[in-house]
Amino acid sequence: MKILDMPCVKGFIQLAQDGVDKGWHEMNGGNLSYRLTGMEKANVKKEVKKPQKEWIDICESVPKLAGEFFIVTRTTGYMRNVMRTPESAFGIVEIDSTGTKFRIWWGLVDGGRPTSEFPSHLKNHEVKFLQDPNNRVIYHAHPVNLIAMTFIVPLKAKDFTLALWQIMTECPVIFPKGIGVVPWMVPGKGEIASATSKLMEEYDIVVWAHHGLFCAGTTFDRAFGLMDTVEKSADIFMKVAATQKKRLSTITKKDIAKIAKEFNLVNLRKQFLR
Ligand code: 13P
Ligand code: ZN
Repeated sequence: MKILDMPCVKGFIQLAQDGVDKGWHEMNGGNLSYRLTGMEKANVKKEVKKPQKEWIDICESVPKLAGEFFIVTRTTGYMRNVMRTPESAFGIVEIDSTGTKFRIWWGLVDGGRPTSEFPSHLKNHEVKFLQDPNNRVIYHAHPVNLIAMTFIVPLKAKDFTLALWQIMTECPVIFPKGIGVVPWMVPGKGEIASATSKLMEEYDIVVWAHHGLFCAGTTFDRAFGLMDTVEKSADIFMKVAATQKKRLSTITKKDIAKIAKEFNLVNLRKQFLR
């Protein structure tokens, strides 16, 4: 099967375009990666036949991802070009046997390199892969209301989670584990990659203060849906915050406990309700 006909590549392109349509990807903002299945990997090898020779440093170590293949967006590339010029806007890469290098099989033409957040993506993938091999998608975007929230809500998982759980009834159902928060840090490798992946052990959604959001999912739909739900709730939160000094009513912690019981949300982080 041709690379651009593979369902995972089509799903990758569609998510990128959906994010652009939402207004989450100014300039080169945001990035996306997907870990291929064994069959998808075999198809890439059959279609492309030969990878590029050069092994390139990841600048992080992800030994559990040795030999895995990823689709990943290009650094400084625009998400709006993922659909228009796929071969340059993203690529398919292989991780080496030590988990410290990668090489390009397809795309990223004219010397393109994976997103500068590839170290963070890969460290998150490693955590999520160990939790459940069905986890395949890591998505990073810059949604405006969520970023605005990081200036007015304390940068703590409990405060952020409760702020969203209490503003839209579906939130505890969609992300019962809550949301992790990384304080402002320089993006890219190192400290922020470690801090994010550590939080990914407990959450599927991690806020980067004054920057954006990371979501992990088993599918493109799930990763996009998490981003969409958080941003929609953040939009309501910011509208309420901008127009009301004091809320006339809200969803209470008791209400959330009722939802948890009714929907049998066994993994709802109950300590956030105390
Ligand atoms: P890249 O262009 O390297 O993907 O960076 C965009 C971004 O959002 C950085 O956080
Ligand atoms: Zn970013």
